[in-house]
Amino acid sequence: MTHKRVAILLSGGGSNMVALVDSMTGDHPARPCLVLSNDAKAGGLVKAAERGVPTAYVDHRPFKGDRAAFEAELMKPLLAAEPDIICLAGFMRVLTAGFVSQWNGRMLNIHPSLLPKYKGLHTHARALEAGDSEHGCTVHEVTAELDDGPILGQARVPVLPGDTPEQLAARVLEQEHRLYPAVLRRFAAGDRTPVLLG
Ligand code: GRF
Repeated sequence: MTHKRVAILLSGGGSNMVALVDSMTGDHPARPCLVLSNDAKAGGLVKAAERGVPTAYVDHRPFKGDRAAFEAELMKPLLAAEPDIICLAGFMRVLTAGFVSQWNGRMLNIHPSLLPKYKGLHTHARALEAGDSEHGCTVHEVTAELDDGPILGQARVPVLPGDTPEQLAARVLEQEHRLYPAVLRRFAAGDRTPVLLG
């Protein structure tokens, strides 16, 4: 069996990338082919290299606000890696509709909220401010609209009395590391049935 090739895009420490890469073994239908960042100093690049995964970066800053020009550069290492699937894992650049449309149906993202609630940033603080009793994370197909697109999985966590945003984020992150690998394995096998974790 030839494995599905998975490129992972990240901007930070890459704990989700590590969970994904470490899950792609044995009879898993996919293998990582590239870890790509917009930041040369992203800690995830080191962790990927330690796992023998090819890495690349394209610094977004020289492109100032010209998203299309940045994305044209980003496409080069991406196309060279010939991915079947792209996983955004803490990739903190908004992608244009033009870029997203080239990967339609083949690009996933993990977002730290129970979408459609709390699209955008600061999701944990917003859930606390709203007095929610539960929170969580969502893996979805990436479409042109930010943090939208068909939901492929969700994991729920309780909000506990006295939670700070950091404590809640840590509880959610643990579930991200369970949810994303479970969704990727199913998605790589051609199954879009949502993964729902408690
Ligand atoms: C996670 O909170 C994820 O939900 C969000 O960015 C963070 C990524 O963390 N997309 P890491 O770089 O995977 O550790």
